[in-house]
Amino acid sequence: MPWQATRELFPVTRSLIYMNHAGVAPISTRVSEALAHYSQLSSEEGAYRYNRSFLPEIRRTRVAASRLVGATPEEIAFIKNTTEGLGIVANGLDWQEGDKVITGDLEYPSNVYPWWHLKSKGVETLMLQGAEGRYSLDEIKRSLSDPRVRLLSLSSVEFGSGARNDLDVIGKLCREHDVLFCVDAIQSLGCLSLDVSQTPIDFLAADGHKWMLGCEGCGIFYCRRERIPLLRPTTVGWGNVVNSSDFDNYKLELPDDANRFEEGTLNLPGIFALGAALELLLELEIDAIEKRVLSLTDQLEQGVCALGAEVLSPRSEGEKSGILSFQLPGEDPETTVDRLRAKNVFSIVRRGGVRLSPHFYNNESEIDLLLDALKS
Ligand SMILES: Cc1ncc(COP(=O)(O)O)c(C=O)c1O
Repeated sequence: MPWQATRELFPVTRSLIYMNHAGVAPISTRVSEALAHYSQLSSEEGAYRYNRSFLPEIRRTRVAASRLVGATPEEIAFIKNTTEGLGIVANGLDWQEGDKVITGDLEYPSNVYPWWHLKSKGVETLMLQGAEGRYSLDEIKRSLSDPRVRLLSLSSVEFGSGARNDLDVIGKLCREHDVLFCVDAIQSLGCLSLDVSQTPIDFLAADGHKWMLGCEGCGIFYCRRERIPLLRPTTVGWGNVVNSSDFDNYKLELPDDANRFEEGTLNLPGIFALGAALELLLELEIDAIEKRVLSLTDQLEQGVCALGAEVLSPRSEGEKSGILSFQLPGEDPETTVDRLRAKNVFSIVRRGGVRLSPHFYNNESEIDLLLDALKS
């Protein structure tokens, strides 16, 4: 499907220039149709044909999620948000007094507090110090050489600066140091490619409402198969036991796949929505989406630079992402965002910059209009 044709799938394009996919994305007509389908099934027959109407949708979405990241469906669990996924890791590992975790000061709070919360178990958190929106690989290497470090948790793309971390290199370093690697992938999944069969990531979490173009409250958690036994689920219920459909004979045996983390009823409307959203991404192909999004952010970068802006996002090859953050000379970012909003352009202020985050259906003319709005 040509990019121009994808605009038809996004009614938001009729009224807004939507440049906040790093915040909460609008949904496509495919997703609204999936929600309408759920609504129709539920209103007309409830759970009467649960096995025929609902279970296949859960499977379908799980398969789509596994294809998106290069995992197997058995390595994917549905979660309500990124924070829950990171919490599954933070609260599930068997920590020993004196263990250390590495995260950093460019992270969204959901990738900081779960680790700080382990202080009561004697776990210390080392904070990498970001500079100019990125972490230094040397500092990462240095911190990994501490033998008490058990886990490194970073974002695939930093929410403020948009710096893309080199997951291949960092994951490999973690392996060399026998350190677990956990990734908050919400700022890249759906727009930048990832293949966990090649990239040594152990755990990954992302809610569906940003680049994946699903709804809030339904995301995915990936756990590498051989790491599943390392995580003791904090919540155990009817759903995450081996005989989960036998309600009469209690037997507390945890599954050895990612179902281990799904303790009860799942968010069915969210799963219908996420399935449709992921299938659209897979149809358009993530590699093509990545190229498209990077080319749109390149155009934005050139445009704002021509206006004398300071670009706050690292933009070298391999570091750039779907996020472009900048500041205009002599204007505070809030004022810039307000001026854009007055022209129906949706951006947001994060970490001191005006953050723009276009997706594949945004186009070059919208960027021209946005740049005109910045000039006026
Ligand atoms: C890097 C990052 N992680 C996590 C989140 C949100 O976490 P959750 O899905 O738990 O609401 C955001 C939201 O902006 C984010 O930018």
